[in-house]
Amino acid sequence: LVLVIDFGAQYAQLIARRVREARVYSEIVPHDLSVAEILAKRPAAIILSGGPSSVYAEGAPSVGAELFRAGVPTFGICYGFQAMARALGGVVDKTGTSEYGGTDLVVGEPASTLFAGTAPAQSVWMSHGDSVVAAPEGFRVSASTPGTPVAAFEDDELRLYGVQYHPEVMHSEYGQKVLENFLYRGAGITPSWTMVNIVDEAVASIRAQVGERRAICGLSGGVDSAVAAALVQRAIGNRLTCVFVDHGLLRKGEAEQVEKDFVAATGVALKVVDARRRFLDALAGVSDPEEKRKIIGREFIRVFEQAQAQIVEQSAKQAAQDERQEPSAHSASFSDWCLVQGTLYPDVVESGGGAGTANIKSHHNVGGLPDDLEFELVEPLRKLFKDEVRRVGEELGLPAEIVWRQPFPGPGLGIRIVGEVTEQRLDLLREADAIAREELTRAGLDRDIWQCPVVLLAEVRSVGVQGDGRTYGHPIVLRPVSSEDAMTADWTRLPYDVLARISTRITNEVRDINRVALDVTSKPPGTIEWE
Ligand code: XMP
Repeated sequence: LVLVIDFGAQYAQLIARRVREARVYSEIVPHDLSVAEILAKRPAAIILSGGPSSVYAEGAPSVGAELFRAGVPTFGICYGFQAMARALGGVVDKTGTSEYGGTDLVVGEPASTLFAGTAPAQSVWMSHGDSVVAAPEGFRVSASTPGTPVAAFEDDELRLYGVQYHPEVMHSEYGQKVLENFLYRGAGITPSWTMVNIVDEAVASIRAQVGERRAICGLSGGVDSAVAAALVQRAIGNRLTCVFVDHGLLRKGEAEQVEKDFVAATGVALKVVDARRRFLDALAGVSDPEEKRKIIGREFIRVFEQAQAQIVEQSAKQAAQDERQEPSAHSASFSDWCLVQGTLYPDVVESGGGAGTANIKSHHNVGGLPDDLEFELVEPLRKLFKDEVRRVGEELGLPAEIVWRQPFPGPGLGIRIVGEVTEQRLDLLREADAIAREELTRAGLDRDIWQCPVVLLAEVRSVGVQGDGRTYGHPIVLRPVSSEDAMTADWTRLPYDVLARISTRITNEVRDINRVALDVTSKPPGTIEWE
């Protein structure tokens, strides 16, 4: 176990992911954990993340010097590097030269552990105001930049290392190599966190938790719930029942994917609830985005709970029949059941993250459940990042269309129709979306973009001309974005010819759509979805 101590920047999750890419298991812990608590977790190594503060700022998080005397190999990054320097008697100061963005790093120590196998000059990503001006006694300074004479230091005896820049970001050349050098050479860790390992561990812990009980899992059509269900299926076989609520807000072909392809790949028992009418009725006359989200969330929970109750009851009846007893002897008890959820590690970290972040939108996960839960939760993906979930899905033999599906919001197309949701509008949007997806796939762009919402501006009309006649139709907006984690995003520069094909096909093939617009806003300030 490698512990990443989070000093409050957005980088901790990225560091933890990179460590796992190096096939070493890592977890994130908050910086206010005491040294004793940290050591109690018996980490093989510790990484101190970057952070937003200056080490001299009032209330700036610090690290007790005891941590560095405990003999655990430690790597300080950016703020963590400065905190380490300071705790060990080095000097951190405002030198007046801040560095932000790409910077040239010169490695000045041929015998360096961190930089072994990298180039003498490399481009790295910096983001700092303060600098270490003197390394702690006994440390070798192994790299520098024009603005930062002490850009990296190391002590092989104490097994303490640090760099001023961010090796975890893509823009740092050799970043992953430097991280691996710390893990393998500095800390002497042998990589062993592999997919087979993850699957075996997850299956064993599901078995231990569920025991003899049964489980229910809500499938949304998305990758998380599918992989969670497939893992639980592998662990407890036919004691798992999946529920798929068709709320009518999915994209073209997605309900079929769940009902056919997923079942074929896993052999799971599936109960499909057709609730399309119910959702449409509940959404009638509603245009406000938050209102729509609340309605969809509420209806989803109601339908799901009904289905659950039916499954529990039926199973009790079945058990009674098998033993030829009265059903009452097998009261339909929820305590015999667990509920599977596809909660991911970033959700776990974020919800334990203390200080409240602003509620930008009320996110609703299909399967998002009320607090007064009667079931014990099984969350087999709690320790995994999205890319790991995908690889587990592949390992379990799930179809590529499910494993590589773009993130899709729980409220579905309901929040991609700006205005009231009606059946007719859903049909239009489904057609337009299917065309966009088809063309993106054909152009081989699926794995280059994070997701591409297609949005119907149902309450906007514009004049057009088609054939010889005037049209007065609705615009469709394409929102292709590139992102690593959906927290921030940039609009994807799609090739013009692909955009042109999508536009031509949508306006030709989807009646009532006479204009296609491209959203060129990054996040922030825009969110990925329009509502
Ligand atoms: P935004 O629009 O907030 O979206 O930039 C960030 C990511 O979250 C997805 N999203 C949701 N997912 N329930 C979900 O399960 C929701 O209510 C929801 N709203 C947005 C969005 O598709 C993007 O990937």
